[in-house]
Amino acid sequence: MMQNSIFVITLFAFLLLLHSSLALKEGQICASDKNCNKGLHCETCLANGNLLPRCTRIQPVIPTSKVKGLPFNHYSWLTTHNAFALLGKKSETGSLILAPTNQQDTITDQLNNGVRGLMLDLYDFENDIWLCHSFGGQCYNYTAFQPAINVLKEIQVFLAANPSEIVTIIIEDYVTSPNGLTKVFDAAGLRKYWFPVSRMPKNGGDWPTVDDMVMKNQRLVVFTSKKAKEASEGIAYEWRYLVENQYGNNGMKAGLCPNRAESPSLNTTSRSLVLVNFFRDVPDVTKSCRDNSAPLLSMVNTCYQAAGKRWPNFIAVDFYKRSDGGGAPEAVDAANGHLVCGCKNIASCKENMTFGVCDLLPEAETTPHQALPPHASFGFQNCKPVDLLWLFATTLLVAMLLFW
Ligand SMILES: *[C@@H]1O[C@H](CO)[C@@H](O)[C@H](O)[C@H]1NC(C)=O
Ligand SMILES: *[C@@H]1O[C@H](CO)[C@@H](O)[C@H](O)[C@H]1NC(C)=O
Ligand SMILES: *[C@@H]1O[C@H](CO)[C@@H](O)[C@H](O)[C@H]1NC(C)=O
Repeated sequence: MMQNSIFVITLFAFLLLLHSSLALKEGQICASDKNCNKGLHCETCLANGNLLPRCTRIQPVIPTSKVKGLPFNHYSWLTTHNAFALLGKKSETGSLILAPTNQQDTITDQLNNGVRGLMLDLYDFENDIWLCHSFGGQCYNYTAFQPAINVLKEIQVFLAANPSEIVTIIIEDYVTSPNGLTKVFDAAGLRKYWFPVSRMPKNGGDWPTVDDMVMKNQRLVVFTSKKAKEASEGIAYEWRYLVENQYGNNGMKAGLCPNRAESPSLNTTSRSLVLVNFFRDVPDVTKSCRDNSAPLLSMVNTCYQAAGKRWPNFIAVDFYKRSDGGGAPEAVDAANGHLVCGCKNIASCKENMTFGVCDLLPEAETTPHQALPPHASFGFQNCKPVDLLWLFATTLLVAMLLFW
């Protein structure tokens, strides 16, 4: 009898939760994405012991919306490793995908959430260029995701619709067909956004400003892992412009930030851009929420030291939406705070202020960089009616979990 009434009341509370937009803040317990404020979604992080779903960040602050006009290399951009390898997606060949997957949403959704760096693996396949993984350098139906042109067109649509945004593509390049990349970028309508290699600083100088790149409509920066293509196709050879740390498990050892074999060491200042990889050899959607939280923030600091006190321009992760709170978006906000205004987080950068003059962060943005405490913050200070409703519903939810 007692249990039945608790069940009925809880069900009612759940319905309230599901049907109202509660505008919950980061770290608060939620029932669905629409309960959370903009830029957040609702999820658990079992790897950190967060059993109840909470609102967590999925969008960084777009740094140019805070401080405009700096050189491109004075900003940090959220970057998705294997941006195309979507969880639960079938191959466009019709085959099941037997390769690992690294992200949860489409390129369009990633871009709309503020991702500005996309890592893409490109192969010759089926007389075309495909996004693929490989066994022994070979793409198969069961490792092929989709033709590259589909995704490049999504990027074209985003650039056309957002005339002040800049996107970087980092290609793991297995294409050997003559001018294969040139043809597919042209076919996708991306040529007119191309940032020319000739304008990239060769000796550690500043990049053109983002304003200049926007004004000239040179808003697509593309890097390839194939050195010869810089001369043959005008596609920048990645490690001539950028240093990066070791990817995979060997790049996740706390306190160490060795360079990737192909990259000059992190402290090579003749390269103006710094990229931090932080993802496992085998992507793990369950553990990614823990990886993308305190350990990522810690690695960003470690690599800052290794790079000769330079903050990363790109922070590359798997499952960028997964975290126990601020996640990869917060790591990007922190890097941008340091880069853009000399503050710990871009949220505390003030318009037109001298470098190093910071605002105090509002309450919701000062979440500590550790795992969230086992109890959610209840937000008593500003007891808006929605908070009280949420508190009521949460209490019932907890009651249900304890007694039912
Ligand atoms: C691979 O997919 C293509 C369609 O893209 C199909 O024509 C071909 O038969 C498939 N190959 C195998 C071995 O299934
Ligand atoms: C740069 O880093 C390497 C290790 O990757 C180290 O051996 C070297 O001493 C560093 N150089 C400077 C100038 O700090
Ligand atoms: C900052 O400076 C720009 C250009 O000088 C000016 O247009 C803008 O109004 C200033 N903003 C504030 C908040 O003072």
